[in-house]
Amino acid sequence: MIIKEMTKEHLDEVIEINNVSFTTDAWNEQGFYREFSLDYSKKWVGIEDGKVVVYAIFWCHGAEAFMMTFAVHPDYRSKGIASYFLAEVFKFLKKENIDYVELDVRKSNLPAINLYKKLGFKIERERPGFYSDGENAFVMSKELV
Ligand SMILES: CC(C)(COP(=O)(O)OP(=O)(O)OC[C@H]1O[C@@H](n2cnc3c(N)ncnc32)[C@H](O)[C@@H]1OP(=O)(O)O)[C@@H](O)C(=O)NCCC(=O)NCCS
Repeated sequence: MIIKEMTKEHLDEVIEINNVSFTTDAWNEQGFYREFSLDYSKKWVGIEDGKVVVYAIFWCHGAEAFMMTFAVHPDYRSKGIASYFLAEVFKFLKKENIDYVELDVRKSNLPAINLYKKLGFKIERERPGFYSDGENAFVMSKELV
């Protein structure tokens, strides 16, 4: 897989993955375009077979990054893509002097929670009713070493 900084040229494919990966809380198209006007937004895609198969967007403030959205194309899941991609992206963040990553995840999203635990994230706390359908979020975090 080749990992590249996300550009607007990747957005059609990124938005398609977003639309099939999330239901009530999927970002809309304008949300993705807006990221390109934010200097604290850092974003990457992973490309395989000439196609975007994974993306992640972070907001970085000082030494901390918050993962805003992240998904793997459904046809490419359970092949180690997320683990590899995030480990590489965390190296890029570390080079930019980021040493702490935080994220929100649905309490029921076991694939993602398992992935984050495998990557060394810990559950910090719970946000009651965080999602629009009333589900709680876990806040998870990891120090980048
Ligand atoms: C969560 C997601 C990113 C995982 O991507 P992936 O490329 O399939 O993950 P990997 O193949 O790298 O798997 C890494 C680990 O994640 C966990 N995992 C992945 N899929 C899983 C599943 N269906 N059930 C349980 N655990 C799972 C496992 O711990 C796995 O490690 P293992 O293979 O040693 O068991 C992917 O399912 C996805 O895009 N989901 C929809 C969007 C989403 O939920 N994004 C995160 C929002 S916070």
